[in-house]
Amino acid sequence: MNLYEITQSLDFIKSKINVEPEIGIVLGSGLNHMAEEIKEPIYIDYKEIPHFVTSTAPGHKGRFVVGTLEGRAVICMQGRFHYYEGHTMKDVTYPVRIMKMLGIKNLLLTNASGGVNRSFNVGDLMLIDDHINFLGTNPLIGKNIEEFGPRFCDMTYAYTPELKEIAFEASKETGVELKRGTYLATTGPSFETPAEIRMYRALGADAVGMSTVPEVIVASHAKLNVLAISLITNMAAGILNQPLSEEEVMKIGNLKGKDLQKLVRCIIKRIP
Ligand code: HPA
Repeated sequence: MNLYEITQSLDFIKSKINVEPEIGIVLGSGLNHMAEEIKEPIYIDYKEIPHFVTSTAPGHKGRFVVGTLEGRAVICMQGRFHYYEGHTMKDVTYPVRIMKMLGIKNLLLTNASGGVNRSFNVGDLMLIDDHINFLGTNPLIGKNIEEFGPRFCDMTYAYTPELKEIAFEASKETGVELKRGTYLATTGPSFETPAEIRMYRALGADAVGMSTVPEVIVASHAKLNVLAISLITNMAAGILNQPLSEEEVMKIGNLKGKDLQKLVRCIIKRIP
C-alpha cells in the first residue's frame, strides 16, 4: 500500500458517488441489514475497486454502500476483512484509510463477539470502552505514512469519549440497553478454548472477537473519532455447558440486529 495505490482506489470510488461521506460505518457478522436502510444507496463491490481484496467471511456482503442515514451522508462497509481470511493487516485496514481520505470524521464499528464477562447475556450490546490487542501483530507495522499520522500513535482515547457519551444518551432515548466493557481481539478462526477464556477474563476482557481492533488502531492513527459496539452473540467457550457454533452467531445477529440498528440511527442523529 502506498499513496499512489490509495489515489487509484479513491479516484474509482469518487467516480461512482456524488456525496462526501461524513460518517463511516462498519457492519459485523450477521449485522449487514442496517445497510438496507440507507437512502439513495450506491453500491460499490470491493472486488471492483483497485487494490481492494475481497471478503470471504460468512454473513459479509463485500461492498460499500454510500448514501444517507438520518439525513447524514454515510459510507457503510457491508462486510469487512479479517486477518483470519489470510489477508495482511494492511489489507484488513485499507478501507479505513480510504474512508478517511473520502472525508469521514467519525467511524462507527459493530461486531459479533463472545461474552467473557459472566454478567452478560446472549443478545446484549456492549459499548467497547477499550481493547486488548491479542492479535500478535499491529496494522501500523512497516513504513509509517506520515500523511495519515505519527509513527507512535497514542491510544489513550482511541474510543472517543464524546461518542461514548452520545451512545449512552442514545441508549436512554431509544430504550436499547447498552453495557460497556473491554474487547479482546484474537486472530481466530478457531473459537477459544475454555482455558483461554479464563485467561482473557483474568486479563480484564469482557468480550472476545476476531475483528475491530486493527480498524480502530488505523482509525486512531488517522485521527478519526471512533465508536464501537459489540453484539454478544454467544457466551464464550466454557461459560455455558455447550459448544459454540457459527450458526448461533448468525442467528443472534439477525435476531438482535434491529436493536443495534435503532441505536446506531439515534447515535448518527446526535453526532455533531
Ligand atoms: N469468540 C470469538 N469471536 C467471536 C465469538 C467468540 O465466542 N462470537 C462471535 N465472534
